[in-house]
Amino acid sequence: MSDDPSLYAPRPCRLLEISELTPLEKLFRLQLEDGSELNHQPGQFIQLSLTGLTEAPISIASSSTRKGYFELGVRKAGLLTTALHQLQPGAQVGIRGPFGRPFQLDALHGKQLLLLAGGCGLAPLRSLIQYCQDHSSSYQSVQILYGARSPQDLLFKEDLVNWQISDNFSCRYTVDQTPTTSCYDGETGLLTNLLADVQIDADNCCAVVVGPPQMYRPVINELRRMGLTGSKQIMLSLERQMRCGVGKCGHCTIEHLYCCTDGPIFWLEEVEHLRGAL
Ligand SMILES: Cc1cc2nc3c(=O)[nH]c(=O)nc-3n(C[C@H](O)[C@H](O)[C@H](O)COP(=O)(O)OP(=O)(O)OC[C@H]3O[C@@H](n4cnc5c(N)ncnc54)[C@H](O)[C@@H]3O)c2cc1C
Ligand code: FES
Repeated sequence: MSDDPSLYAPRPCRLLEISELTPLEKLFRLQLEDGSELNHQPGQFIQLSLTGLTEAPISIASSSTRKGYFELGVRKAGLLTTALHQLQPGAQVGIRGPFGRPFQLDALHGKQLLLLAGGCGLAPLRSLIQYCQDHSSSYQSVQILYGARSPQDLLFKEDLVNWQISDNFSCRYTVDQTPTTSCYDGETGLLTNLLADVQIDADNCCAVVVGPPQMYRPVINELRRMGLTGSKQIMLSLERQMRCGVGKCGHCTIEHLYCCTDGPIFWLEEVEHLRGAL
């Protein structure tokens, strides 16, 4: 990583549109003020800043194949994200990046893809899903599986319907529990339940998993049971607290790896044996 000053200086961006995804999460559409494209790759993140406040790493939730803007799906978690949620279209924010190792697109080419997200993990995965939509002939098939806690926690509800394109590009989602007051009539149960009746050619399949830490073990076990036991068949995204985002401060280490530069996307075999990684 070079010492290029632009790595550390935020670039001004304008908020174009803001929409509510759930009571806790909003989707922000932004544009760099100098009119340039962000030119990110699916799976990368930016460091978002507001004047007078700290920074936070946020995954880019749209694909760079969609021109003129980029999107961030942000949960109201603490200081910065609460202030962001209060902004209106037209407001200015700062970003550094894009940073991090993206999804390994070359390894996915020509394969059957299983794209699995839990909770907020759908935000970073959405950048890959949009990329696959825009290059659909490059994949044998794309199956998206998504799990949320309850119907009101489902993110990107319109996308979930629009991604049910064909047998070759499909999307299913489930919620852990349905409150009796809800009119939700979709599937209920854990994400692993959805995997039970998925048909794949295991030798030609690659899975991408993005979600909360507790999701990884059961999902990985199920994928292995389905035959995804080879090298470079399971890719995942890991989150650690970050400061610099560029491999300098050591805040994001997982043993010898820096989550911000060696990740956040890893092959399972790169991290599975590391203490505390999953
Ligand atoms: C690579 C990466 C991508 C991310 N992408 C997104 C995204 O797309 N959307 C989104 O809403 N959030 C995302 N996050 C999480 C986000 O950066 C944190 O929630 C951030 O702390 C919010 O800043 P804040 O000032 O609002 O909250 P803070 O004031 O920092 O506090 C929020 C709470 O979250 C805890 N926390 C902070 N960082 C993390 C972390 N990495 N993992 C677990 N707990 C943490 C803090 O200890 C505190 O309890 C991402 C994090 C990483 C590392
Ligand atoms: S966040 Fe500073 S080294 Fe990764």
